Amino acid sequence: MSSDSESDAPFNVSETLIPFRDIKPVDNSSVSFDGILDNPLVLKEDLKDGCGGQLWPAGMVLAKYLLRRHHSDFSGKTIVELGAGGGLVGLAVARGCTVGPSPIYITDQQPMLPLMETNIELNDLSSTVAAAVLDWGAPLPDCIPAHPAIILAADCVYFEPAFPLLITTLKDLLGPESVCYFCFKRRRRADLRFIKMAKKAFDIEEVHDDPDVDIYRRENLFLYAIRSKSCKRDSRERD
Ligand SMILES: C[S@@+](CC[C@H](N)C(=O)[O-])C[C@H]1O[C@@H](n2cnc3c(N)ncnc32)[C@H](O)[C@@H]1O
Repeated sequence: MSSDSESDAPFNVSETLIPFRDIKPVDNSSVSFDGILDNPLVLKEDLKDGCGGQLWPAGMVLAKYLLRRHHSDFSGKTIVELGAGGGLVGLAVARGCTVGPSPIYITDQQPMLPLMETNIELNDLSSTVAAAVLDWGAPLPDCIPAHPAIILAADCVYFEPAFPLLITTLKDLLGPESVCYFCFKRRRRADLRFIKMAKKAFDIEEVHDDPDVDIYRRENLFLYAIRSKSCKRDSRERD
């Protein structure tokens, strides 16, 4: 079992997505986010079913930000994570933030479902977290709350044909009161095209209240809050 607790490097995880199959053997990692979690998460990492089977830098950044800055304001809110992989971000929020009564939905494609379920069990979080299949671009599954208050997405920008699918899903999910915390690592020029598309479709603001922002910016990691364009329109109409 590996641990992050003695590491000063905030993103002690693989930096590239391809090739990924030979990078890491199957293992359990203990993740405390530099001691923020008293009871660290145990996450099984297994790449046999896809790249989501390991921890990615944007997931580490997003989870740490949420644990520090949204520790107590998620109570009573519905929460859905997209492209959750093994569930790093949603499980961290479940362990370290005040949440409920609705479960946090960690979602991904079908092949990642067993890993999400294993990690929920490994951390004894089945009363707080539910795993579901949510394919970007496809109709939303019935179990997912309509227009969740909080949407989480980490390291979901890396495969250009999936960009419009992810935009469609964000459009379907974002309601007037929703916010999506969206962290991504820019690896290629093409990744900026996603942000261009997203800027057309949504209101996007960079998150500025993260004390680590200068550190991860150097690693080409960006953290945004994405809202439906109708939010601003609605508040102007109310004024
Ligand atoms: C690089 S991994 C990030 C995993 C996790 N969020 C993290 O930060 O550790 C990207 C995830 O997006 C998921 N994904 C890719 N295309 C998808 C799609 N069309 N629908 C749903 N999930 C998708 C992959 O299965 C994978 O788990």
